[in-house]
Amino acid sequence: MNISVIGVGYVGLVSGVCFSELGNKVICVDKDITKIEMLKRGEVPIYEPGLKELIDKNVKAGRLSFTNELSESVQASEIIIIAVGTPSLPNGEANLQYIEQAAREIALAINEYKVIMTKSTVPVGTNEKIAQMIYELTEHPFDVVSVPEFLREGSAIKDTLYPDRIIIGTDSKPAEQKAVELHSTLTDQIIVTDIRSAEMIKYASNAFLATKISFINEIANICEKVNADVTLVAKGMGLDKRIGPSFLNAGIGYGGSCFPKDTEALIQIAGNANYEFKLLKSVVEVNKHQRFNVINKLEDLLGNLSSKTIGIWGLAFKPNTDDVRDAPSIEIVETLIKKGCIIKVYDPIAINNFRKVVNHENIVWCDSITDAAIDCHGVCLLTEWNEFKEVDLKNIEKLMKLPVFIDGRNVYAKERIEETGLNYYSIGRPD
Ligand code: UGA
Repeated sequence: MNISVIGVGYVGLVSGVCFSELGNKVICVDKDITKIEMLKRGEVPIYEPGLKELIDKNVKAGRLSFTNELSESVQASEIIIIAVGTPSLPNGEANLQYIEQAAREIALAINEYKVIMTKSTVPVGTNEKIAQMIYELTEHPFDVVSVPEFLREGSAIKDTLYPDRIIIGTDSKPAEQKAVELHSTLTDQIIVTDIRSAEMIKYASNAFLATKISFINEIANICEKVNADVTLVAKGMGLDKRIGPSFLNAGIGYGGSCFPKDTEALIQIAGNANYEFKLLKSVVEVNKHQRFNVINKLEDLLGNLSSKTIGIWGLAFKPNTDDVRDAPSIEIVETLIKKGCIIKVYDPIAINNFRKVVNHENIVWCDSITDAAIDCHGVCLLTEWNEFKEVDLKNIEKLMKLPVFIDGRNVYAKERIEETGLNYYSIGRPD
């Protein structure tokens, strides 16, 4: 099939590349000239394992190209995928400016029947609005389909090529057929729904996963008080098939470009429909507080933090990405700076992105794990990168001024800590 993908962010670029890998002819379109020029030169504007190799392969095979020219690529395609961003407005609602702009430009470009497929996360009713907007601007036939995306950063290619399910929301048979055909080799689990239910499935899924995380974080907080171990509790709970083992890792709370934004947006969607989503409000609230456990524990162990040197291991909101959007590390570092700490930060790949968000004279930018431990009164591990798991903790202890170690992701087994003299604290596990 000939496909245009509008927007070369995470979802757009990964989807476009994967559809070309499946043998389709894909043109990725973006207004951002710098990004398109980078992609044309073979550089990838986001960090995602395996993505560059797939781009090179499919560009070489003539199945994948990049352009700023929306109109030409829309005319050359039977399916147009909208994958532009829907960032938060100050009140938490999704900002639909980019979606609407894309819809307008597509409407002005179409010259024959097109299937317009939305992969961006949009509030319930948005696809209908897009259809209405396009309808008012063109006489040519088209259908709008909602196909929400469930890929995760760090495993985006695998998630796209081997999805758990594909949701196709449409009320048009020809559009349904095209969408099913496009995704048919990926999974047997293709669910066709009405447009509004498809839009809701995306928000409900992210909200549910965020709820699991806040739930286990609160269980961890209780475990600390009653001297139980949350990792064993999660294991025991997760073996119940109705609960499942995933997303029960206690820690410093969720971050990233999706859960914080989509939970707030769903609260707004509910509010606009005169419904107060009390449970999800609590999930968000719990998440906002969870990151401060790290600082509270540092204060318990070190007293006044003024002039203390603290090592921060990991800045990305999760491993295998350089993304720091809404990462708990941002607020943790900012708070420690306010308390007068010197912060030695290290992350395998997210330092440059972090520096764009938080840059202060109290921050020392380190280029190794050991560097971010030398002369520290305390170290806080905030992202569970593999290289942190393999580090020699006895050596780390020797490098530190005081051996206080806060493991915000429960990375180390008790036995490894017992070999050291670290004053170690993790989340929801007995000290
Ligand atoms: C999330 C969803 O998992 C995807 O299905 C969805 O497509 C995507 O949002 C989106 O809406 O675009 P992502 O944000 O890339 O994907 O990352 P996750 O792996 O879901 O992690 C999100 C946050 O939850 C991270 O900060 C992670 O550290 C935290 N987390 C995750 C926990 O604290 N505990 C867990 O058990 C799992």
